[in-house]
Amino acid sequence: MVGGGRLTGSVRVQGSKNAALALCSAALLAEGRTTIRNVPSIVDVDIFMQIAAELGYRTAYDGGDLEVSEGDRPTAEIPGELGGRIRATACFAASVLARRGRVRFPLPGGDRFCERPIDRHLTAMRLAGAEIEQAGSYLSARLRGHRPHPFKFSAATPHGPSLGATITALLLAATADGTSLISDPSPEPEVHHVCGLLRRCGANIRQRFDGAMEIAGTRGWRDSMYEAPADPSEAGTLALAAAITGGQITMCGVPPSVVPDGFRSFLAGAGTQLTATDAGTAVVSSPGSERRPVLRSLTTGPYPSFPTDLQPLASVLLTQLAGRSTVHDPVFERRVSHVEGLRRFGAHISTHGGRIVIEGPARLTGASVSGTDIRCAAAYLLAGLVADGESTIDGTYHIDRGYEDIVGKLVSLGAQIG
Ligand code: EPU
Repeated sequence: MVGGGRLTGSVRVQGSKNAALALCSAALLAEGRTTIRNVPSIVDVDIFMQIAAELGYRTAYDGGDLEVSEGDRPTAEIPGELGGRIRATACFAASVLARRGRVRFPLPGGDRFCERPIDRHLTAMRLAGAEIEQAGSYLSARLRGHRPHPFKFSAATPHGPSLGATITALLLAATADGTSLISDPSPEPEVHHVCGLLRRCGANIRQRFDGAMEIAGTRGWRDSMYEAPADPSEAGTLALAAAITGGQITMCGVPPSVVPDGFRSFLAGAGTQLTATDAGTAVVSSPGSERRPVLRSLTTGPYPSFPTDLQPLASVLLTQLAGRSTVHDPVFERRVSHVEGLRRFGAHISTHGGRIVIEGPARLTGASVSGTDIRCAAAYLLAGLVADGESTIDGTYHIDRGYEDIVGKLVSLGAQIG
């Protein structure tokens, strides 16, 4: 790719990777057919479909609609080669455990930018009545009864509430014989959407004033349909691409709230406004010389704070702003996989303890780098958009895991990517 040039034009935002995968986990619980709409065509969804087939489900994907229904030969084993490639494996396993009373699954894979334990998922399974054994990188869980027991569970971790463990607990509670309580649930939108699908299938879920969720399990699952929301991470990536190049784009059919408030305020502080228009959301950035960073420190947090997934990409924008910025990601303390590669582009970026320190503005020059996870690879793509000369980004497999066609979209907005 060759950097330089402002991005302009209109673009559609894909369906949310993380919401689609969470909804896929819930679809594995259903006795009938579940249709999930607006599912992005990404490698992680392909992997889900392969896992579902191994578990004896039928799946069909057509134009964003994913249908999941139970087949004739159910099994309870998630193969290591597939489950080890994706983070949602622990949630898929929770559904299989709830539905079949047992499951064998590998430790989840996916982005390995830092240690990502699944202790809270396993605690939820144990509280629901499972006995769990680990042999090497495989776990086997077996319920003592036919269905999960009702349970009380906290999704809190030292780094904030766990999204994945909240989904795991919801899946177990939705099939339990009685009412369960999940305290400190993750406030991420994925939780809201999984609750929406589970309610349509027949579960009774109520959020109390203190935020805890009460879930009455169900036996009678109905066929259901649910639409995945637009992807905040892809929308944030496109908005940052416009901001970094001093461009002006429209994200069609989505409101500015497609990205969390914390991200919008960050962008506004960096001179880029997101405003609602008839067509969707206009992203308008001021030319480089007028950009004044109001926010000198960026801290991630649970929704609606600045999301951890956009931190590596926002770091690229910070390299273009005047002055010193610090980035702190308490959700994933060691999510710094992008720092080394950005240095190769000429960014003045380093890590100090758990913080990233960036001195700007830096003139970036073309580099050859290899992305090691989705957002790291996407951050390099953004750096390549403003770097002088030619850049080569390897590791685009990671981009394909979560982005439907980000390269095609950037090219349609004027980027030079071959
Ligand atoms: N944690 C524990 N124990 C657990 C689970 C999590 O200590 O059992 C800790 C984690 O280590 C982390 C914090 O809790 O420090 C939050 O992790 P969480 O469980 O919320 O993350 P996740 O469910 O594994 C999902 C997304 C990530 C996103 C995080 C945070 C999916 C498939 N993945 O992961 O998405 O960063 O929530 O919002 O939904 C991405 O899209 O680039 C991505 C990495």
